Amino acid sequence: MKILLAEDDAQVRTELRELLVEQGYDVTTAVDGIDAFEKFRADEMVEILLLDIRMPRATGIQALDAIKKIESTNDRVFETLFITGVSDNNAIVSALKLGAFAFLFKPIVVEELLKELSEATDSINQKHYRKFQNSMHNANLENRSPGKAAGSLRDGMSATSEIAAIGAEHYAPDIEQHVHRISEMALCVSVRLGLENQQCQHIRLASLLHDIGKLGGPTDIYTAKRALTKEEFEKTKDHTRLGAALLEHYDDPVIEVAQNIALQHHENWDGSGYPAGLKGDEISIEAAIVHAVDTYDNLRSHRPYRAALPHHVAMEILISGDEKSNPDHFHPRVLQALLSQHREIEAIYERYRPVEIDKGVTNQAPA
Ligand SMILES: [Fe+2]
Ligand SMILES: [Fe+2]
Repeated sequence: MKILLAEDDAQVRTELRELLVEQGYDVTTAVDGIDAFEKFRADEMVEILLLDIRMPRATGIQALDAIKKIESTNDRVFETLFITGVSDNNAIVSALKLGAFAFLFKPIVVEELLKELSEATDSINQKHYRKFQNSMHNANLENRSPGKAAGSLRDGMSATSEIAAIGAEHYAPDIEQHVHRISEMALCVSVRLGLENQQCQHIRLASLLHDIGKLGGPTDIYTAKRALTKEEFEKTKDHTRLGAALLEHYDDPVIEVAQNIALQHHENWDGSGYPAGLKGDEISIEAAIVHAVDTYDNLRSHRPYRAALPHHVAMEILISGDEKSNPDHFHPRVLQALLSQHREIEAIYERYRPVEIDKGVTNQAPA
């Protein structure tokens, strides 16, 4: 995340810059409001503005005002934090009207600065994610309009939806919610990882089918409202290979991704997963993404041997592990992306919350 720090006091500027670089931020500096305006305009990578209010030539507020006027035309995602040495109410009101994200009063408390920066980073990530969703929504609308040639993506979408519908009908209603959550969460993490738009879209659709192998049964095991025996649990592992085999018959780019996901979504980064015990980059990135969000979702869901866990506990287990899970099971960058998007991940869970979460409708079969 790149920060543009505008501060006229050379000593404060240097100290703040060093602190932020130490924290892993990419920092560029400006000495006054006009300098800040020009540098923001010239550098598209800047996503956080850290502006002193009182500066020569132009104040931080004037700089943001000028930036907002160009922002309307170029649609950039950023947040602005103001640093102020005085409790100047008028300036604060003006800054709020311009959409200031936060205020930091001098002398700056390091913990507060870092907390605000981390919240600004979250907010920027959400904005990117929403922007991506909108662009995908618009692209889908365009694809549906008459006269447009049906591209392979559209064909893939139809095939995916069709198969997902068959799968969903076959299971309890909460399974349908599960695949939708996984699809949305996988998209969220893919976008955070910076994957290309089309790849993100493929992952969103393909991950709907990650558990399609469960269609191969045995259904009584998947719908049992009791703990499974060791043998039954071993049997459920077949859903990976069965899913891949089922999807072999479709010639489509989305289904190809789906086949990969179905086969590898229980493989662990450290090689301890199944069915093949693949390790590290032998596991496709799309399967690694689904593996992480599927594990999160599994922890959030009721099991006969434990209650559904709250968001923060599920996140803690992903990061620190427990008797079943280990952080080494996950692709490190995927885990990092999931963490940085954790609020959105929680929101997705809430959006598709299982209706019968407290009634124990699911067993401990792999998610
Ligand atoms: Fe699974
Ligand atoms: Fe699953």
